[in-house]
Amino acid sequence: MLRALRRAGHTAVVLDDLRAGRADFVGDAPLVRCDVGDHAAVERAFAEYGPVDGVIHLAALLSVGESVAKPLAYYRNNVSAAEGLIETAVHHGARAFVLSSTAAVYGHPESQPIREDAPIAPINPYGASKSMVERILADVEAAHGMRYAALRYFNASGADPEGGIGECHEPELHLIPLALEAAAGLRPALSLFGSDYPTPDGTCIRDYIHVTDLARAHVLAVEGLLEGQEGGAFNLGTGIGHSNREVLDAVERVVGLPVPILPADRRPGDPPELVADASRFREAFGWEPKHSDLDTILETAWQWLSSSRGL
Ligand SMILES: NC(=O)c1ccc[n+]([C@@H]2O[C@H](COP(=O)([O-])OP(=O)(O)OC[C@H]3O[C@@H](n4cnc5c(N)ncnc54)[C@H](O)[C@@H]3O)[C@@H](O)[C@H]2O)c1
Repeated sequence: MLRALRRAGHTAVVLDDLRAGRADFVGDAPLVRCDVGDHAAVERAFAEYGPVDGVIHLAALLSVGESVAKPLAYYRNNVSAAEGLIETAVHHGARAFVLSSTAAVYGHPESQPIREDAPIAPINPYGASKSMVERILADVEAAHGMRYAALRYFNASGADPEGGIGECHEPELHLIPLALEAAAGLRPALSLFGSDYPTPDGTCIRDYIHVTDLARAHVLAVEGLLEGQEGGAFNLGTGIGHSNREVLDAVERVVGLPVPILPADRRPGDPPELVADASRFREAFGWEPKHSDLDTILETAWQWLSSSRGL
C-alpha cells in the first residue's frame, strides 16, 4: 500500500503497533508505532503529521476461526478502534476514508458472482465486525461529509513483483503461502479442508486478487473520493474463481515440486464458492486488475518465499 501511494506521488504516514507487521517493510516512511485503539496517540499522530487528506484503514484482526473463539477481541480491535480512528479523522478534517472490508460480510451468498447488493449476512464475528464499520462510515458520511469506500476484498494474494515484501502471517492461514511452504518442504503437508463441496472437483472455489492490484485500487479510491466522487461499498476481485485443487495443481506447475496434501474435513463456515462481481468498482474508478492471473500471483508469491526463506 505504501509503495503504491508513493508511486502515485502521495506522501504517507504509517500507523501500526507491529503486532503482526514489520518495521522493515515501512522503509524510510514515517512509522508511528501505536495501537489504533489508543485514541490519544492517534490524535497526536494526526496533529503531528497533518493535515491528513485521507485515511486508508487496513489494521485489523483477520482470522475467522479466532474471531469465533474471541469475539470481544475482534469487536474491540476491528470496531471500537476503527470508530475511534474515524472520529479522529473527522475531527482533523480528513475528506476520504478507505476501509479494508471483506467478502466475509456476505456470509453464505445465494448466487455467484456476488454483487454489492447481495444481502449482508456475516456468519462470524470477523465478517460482522467489518460490516459494522461499513455502517459507521455510511452514517458518518451522511452526517459529516467524510466520503468513504469500503473495499470488500476477496482473497488477497501474491507479492510485490519488485520484491522485498510479501505475506508473512504468524500463524499462516492462507492457502497459497501454505501450499508453497508445503512444496518447499517448510511444512510437512497442506491440509485440504473438504473435497465433497458441490463444485466441479469437490473443493472450495475462491477469487484471488493480487496485492498490487488491491493496493492500486486503494490509491484510485482515495484519489477519486478526494475529487468528490461518490463512494460506498465495492467488491474487489477478478470475477474468476479457482478451486483449491486448481490452485494446488498450478502451484506444482509453477514451482515444479509436488505439494504433499493431508485430506481434512470441511471447516465450519466455509462457503463452497466466493467469486466477486467487481464491475461496480471497475466502472466507477477505472480500475483493471493487471497482476491477478493465477500464475503471476503464484510466481510473485514464490519469489518472495524463496528470497525471504533463503531457498
Ligand atoms: N488477507 C486477505 O485475504 C484479506 C481479505 C479481505 C480483507 N482483508 C483485510 O485487509 C486488511 C489487511 O490484511 P492483511 O492480510 O494485510 O493482514 P496483516 O495482519 O498482515 O496486516 C494487518 C496489520 O494491522 C496491524 N494492526 C492490527 N491491529 C492493530 C491495532 N489495533 N493497532 C495498530 N496496528 C494494528 C498489524 O500489526 C498488521 O501490520 C485487514 O483489515 C483484513 O481484514 C484481508
